[in-house]
Amino acid sequence: MKYLIILVALLSIAHVATAGTPEEDKGKALLVLQTKCNICHVRNNPFRIFKERNMERNAKDIYKQVFVKGRMPLGNEVKLTEDERETLKKWLEANIH
Ligand code: HEC
Repeated sequence: MKYLIILVALLSIAHVATAGTPEEDKGKALLVLQTKCNICHVRNNPFRIFKERNMERNAKDIYKQVFVKGRMPLGNEVKLTEDERETLKKWLEANIH
């Protein structure tokens, strides 16, 4: 019984640690956009540099390019890790209306 309580306590701590507030999710998504998208857009698509203040506005297009068409990140050099995909997807799904 004691172990069960400890287990439940640990599981809820783990849940809180991964859940994230909307602000944290936004921050993490922005980090992905900065490190995996802007690095190229800065040179090759300067009208689409993702920032905190324009990422919501771009959410639909980002979703379409990354998760529907699979075009972005363009080319073979930049790849999103599983974690980065999840982070981006989670934030996008909460921000596409
Ligand atoms: C290696 C370069 C490169 C990387 C990395 C890259 N992009 Fe792009 N992206 C481009 C270029 C070039 C264009 C403009 C030409 C085009 O659409 O093919 C573009 C266009 C776009 C567009 C507009 C497309 C449209 O037709 O509306 C979006 C949205 C976009 N990128 C999102 C992203 C996201 C999100 C990431 C990161 C997950 C990313 N891109 C990573 C090069 C890149």
